[in-house]
Amino acid sequence: MVSPVTVIDQRPAAEMPGPSTKFFGIDNLLIYQRDPLAAFEHYAAYGDASHVALGLYHLYFFNHPDYIHDILVTQADKFNRWSRQKEVVGKVVGNGTFNADGDQWRKQRKLVQPAFHHKRIQTYADVMIRETQRLIDSWQTGQEYDLAHEMLKVTMAIIAQTMFGADVQGMEATISHALTVCMETETRQMEAIIKVPDWLPLPRKLAFRRAIKTFDDLIYGFIRARRATGEDTGDLLSMLLLAADEEHGGTMTDREVRDEALTLFSAGHETTANTLTWTWHLLAQYPEVEAKMVEEIERVLVIARRPCKTCAACPTRKWCSKNRSGSIPRLLG
Ligand code: HEM
Repeated sequence: MVSPVTVIDQRPAAEMPGPSTKFFGIDNLLIYQRDPLAAFEHYAAYGDASHVALGLYHLYFFNHPDYIHDILVTQADKFNRWSRQKEVVGKVVGNGTFNADGDQWRKQRKLVQPAFHHKRIQTYADVMIRETQRLIDSWQTGQEYDLAHEMLKVTMAIIAQTMFGADVQGMEATISHALTVCMETETRQMEAIIKVPDWLPLPRKLAFRRAIKTFDDLIYGFIRARRATGEDTGDLLSMLLLAADEEHGGTMTDREVRDEALTLFSAGHETTANTLTWTWHLLAQYPEVEAKMVEEIERVLVIARRPCKTCAACPTRKWCSKNRSGSIPRLLG
């Protein structure tokens, strides 16, 4: 792996600006663990490219879009995923696109790409509208809702239906708990100074194993159901199950399909749920921006008459009118 510093800055790490360390990076690690966001802001104060020794690792932070473009696009071939991340995240999603490198990544990426073709995305709009409508219909005026949970419910329903033709209604809390356990475990294990073996019967290790089993049951359930019908619905799951394995001949194993499917399932709903939740939170603080957004949505939907046929039936419209006076529901939790 070529260090970002060699490629972009041409200066050795020692010369890059950043916080100094007194105890082999442990002081920086403790600061980071206490408040990662504050730590990121602190590093950014050193400039567009900064370096910090964090425990045993040297981390490089790039805050300029040109640097990021260089790393992710122009010189992407020179960068690998962090080995510790690969190992830890791999315990959950195996070798799916999110965690793969090099040729393996290229192969996987090519395989899932058609699911994101703009023509397919247009067909996802129907599911998005239906699920948004269902969520709004379930809300009672005057009632307070935990928006983070509501957004998770809707994005999870959308990803399950668009990618796997599956209904996860009623399972949201279990899945979301499993995802939280996995993400917290991954973060803890990536930051850990000492590795604790996963086979130890400690409460956290047992919770991690249970969380992985929740995902195994869920995704292998999708796979079994689809194999049983033998149907090609053209969605991501069918694509994965029917894809030819160029390297070994035949099709992908269930484990390979599981890894890719779980990657898309988890990457595809938690991020969007968080984005939506924070969007509502921010809009509630800036009514003038909210009003502009409402105006734009109404105007664009009326002009395009898409994806809803009549504006009155449009869930976004209903959302807007429900919230016109009192603004966005209060964010809880
Ligand atoms: C607002 C929503 C989203 C945000 C903020 C977000 C953020 C990110 C980020 C930062 C990465 C890079 C991670 C890394 O390489 O370390 C990533 C990768 C990825 N995301 Fe998202 N994502 C979002 C939505 C989605 C959705 C909706 C899907 C799928 C339906 C998805 C699937 C993926 C996949 C498969 C990768 C790995 C891509 C690759 O390495 O080629 N993401 N996402």
